[in-house]
Order: sequence, then C-alpha cells, then structure tokens
Amino acid sequence: MKFFVDTADTNEIRELAATGLIDGVTTNPSLIVKSGRDFKEVIKEICELTDGPVSAEVTALETGAMLAEAQELLKIAKNVCIKLPLTIDGLKACKALTDEGHMVNVTLCFSANQALLAAKAGATFISPFIGRLDDMNIDGMELIEDIRIIYDNYDFETEILAASIRTANHVKQSAMAGADVATIPPAVIKGLAKHPLTDKGLEAFLADWAKTGQSIL
Ligand code: G3P
Repeated sequence: MKFFVDTADTNEIRELAATGLIDGVTTNPSLIVKSGRDFKEVIKEICELTDGPVSAEVTALETGAMLAEAQELLKIAKNVCIKLPLTIDGLKACKALTDEGHMVNVTLCFSANQALLAAKAGATFISPFIGRLDDMNIDGMELIEDIRIIYDNYDFETEILAASIRTANHVKQSAMAGADVATIPPAVIKGLAKHPLTDKGLEAFLADWAKTGQSIL
C-alpha cells in the first residue's frame, strides 16, 4: 500500500520524506489555510520534496472554471495531481483532464456509486473519506471494501486512496481491505512505528549488551 502524507506542512513532509516511506502528498483547501501559506508557492515546494503525486485541489464549481484552474496548477510541476470534487461538473473535468493524460484525484467520495462514477470518468485516484463517515456512525471501512469489490469486478485502474484517516487502525484496516493508497496525517504515520513492547524489548537488549563491555565498532 502506498503512503501519501495528508498535509501542506512542508516541515512535516520534509521530515517524513527523509524516511523513504512516503509515496506522495495530498492537500485540500482546509490544509492550505492551516499552512498559512500562498497556495501555489506551497504546492511548488511540496512538489520538490517528493517525486510522487501531489494533490492540489481546484476551488471552482463549474467544469470550465475547474479546467482553467487545473491548467494553472499543472504549470507548477509535473507531479501535480489535480483534485476535483465528486460532482457532475467535477466528473466532467476529470474525464477531460485524464483524457489529456493528467493525474486526477476525485475527492469527497462517500458512496460506492460515487466511486463507480469516478472510475468511469477515468480518475487516477478516488478518495473515500473514512473518518467523516465514522463520525456519522456509518462504517467508513465498509465503503473501502465495497469499492474494492466493484473496481475488481470490472478491472478499473482507478486507485483507491483511503482518506480522512484518523487512526493507526484506519491504516491497518485500509490495507486489509485492499486500498491502493492511504493518505495519512503526519502524526498518525509517526505513530505507526510505536509499540511499548518494542521500546521495552530494545531497552532490555541494550541493557544486556552493556554488560558485555563490548562494542561493534
Ligand atoms: O484528504 C482528505 C482529508 O484531509 C480529510 O480529512 O480529517 O478533514 O476528514 P478530515
């Protein structure tokens, strides 16, 4: 499963990119606001921090205006992936952009039928929002499972990009469900490596090693 970082904080991206575990970045208007930075400038910087897809979201609601914004964003870097909302206008823009060979991430997906439409529109990625469904006591992971079945039934190439991930369990469950990508907040990524028994075991190993008085170098 590919890991994208879900943030526009370039310090966080730089730190995680150095681990070699990151395959791309997703942003959205709320994350851009949170960064406090100019949209195009921060996307440019992010595109220099990773070779993978960097999702930059349009803000227009009508297809023509979406395509005009997309052309502006595509000028920033070759790894810009245009993020479009799951609306009829967004799907029309998705078809036009993917027909031209550009990457598109269709976002704000909350149903399997929406995901089916995105695949038919040629989306590179579909972003089902797990956490926001969970917030409404709807099983967000069931959506990932349903989309996986539908996409496999028809060999759709659209990649399932599990989004709105809030916990380490969301990451594990997304991998179990067969998501192609998970876009994960930095804090959740960092937490994936943590386990108290790992810490405890390492401490015990090093304490015993110290007793030997030896060193490897
Ligand atoms: O990529 C979408 C993600 O940023 C949304 O997450 O926590 O706002 O639902 P959240």
